[in-house]
Amino acid sequence: MSTKKPWRLGTRAQLLLRGLRYAQILPYASIDGWLSIDEAITLFELARALPHERPLAVEIGCWQGKSSVCLGRGLRGKNTPRLVCIDPFDASGDQQSSDVYQHRANAVGGPLRSAFEHNLAEVGVRELVDVRPGYSQDLAEEFREPIDLLFLDGDHSFDAIQRDYRDWSPKVRAGGFLVMHDVVHPVHEGPRRVVEEMIKQDPTWVEHRYIDSMFVARKVAA
Ligand SMILES: C[S@@+](CC[C@H](N)C(=O)[O-])C[C@H]1O[C@@H](n2cnc3c(N)ncnc32)[C@H](O)[C@@H]1O
Repeated sequence: MSTKKPWRLGTRAQLLLRGLRYAQILPYASIDGWLSIDEAITLFELARALPHERPLAVEIGCWQGKSSVCLGRGLRGKNTPRLVCIDPFDASGDQQSSDVYQHRANAVGGPLRSAFEHNLAEVGVRELVDVRPGYSQDLAEEFREPIDLLFLDGDHSFDAIQRDYRDWSPKVRAGGFLVMHDVVHPVHEGPRRVVEEMIKQDPTWVEHRYIDSMFVARKVAA
């Protein structure tokens, strides 16, 4: 009988490899926005897990590209990946957020859209991003492609997030992912309520999990 142990990478090497993998999203740290490290890693890993051929991710609410960079870096290297980014780039938003957005937009020293595009270009993902300037509610009807990953982070009022969920989540393909941000938040009630009152009550959505203030669910396979 052979006493040879199976060959495995040591813990240090595994940690090093993991560090190298997450170094890919390092630039996210210097972009203004709202995303914890674990949330950033989750977006990156989810995007990486999408099919290799023509994966499609849609992000509603992009601000200056902090989350877009994580998704884009996860998609990079696949065959014809696409990230559709929807945002009016006018710092508008729900009542609780618009003052903060305006204040932070003033500090940018130029149009938000330019800052967004610059940030994407800096990390080499601009070519895979399809920017759709505008409001999610105005763009939903004409959008007919099946989505592999939908990230909702736009207007956080209950009415708006409910509308985004109703308009956009049916477009997620079987086995695809729905991700929502700010579902655990002292001010924003909307995302939490949509998760509790709608998503968790719908058997279409499985594999629920929380990562800090982010919620992830998967559409049941066909
Ligand atoms: C919380 S920020 C997004 C943060 C970004 N995901 C990040 O990680 O930094 C919300 C963004 O959604 C935009 N927004 C507000 N209402 C929207 C709507 N109806 N459709 C699309 N985007 C909207 C806001 O102007 C803002 O840029």
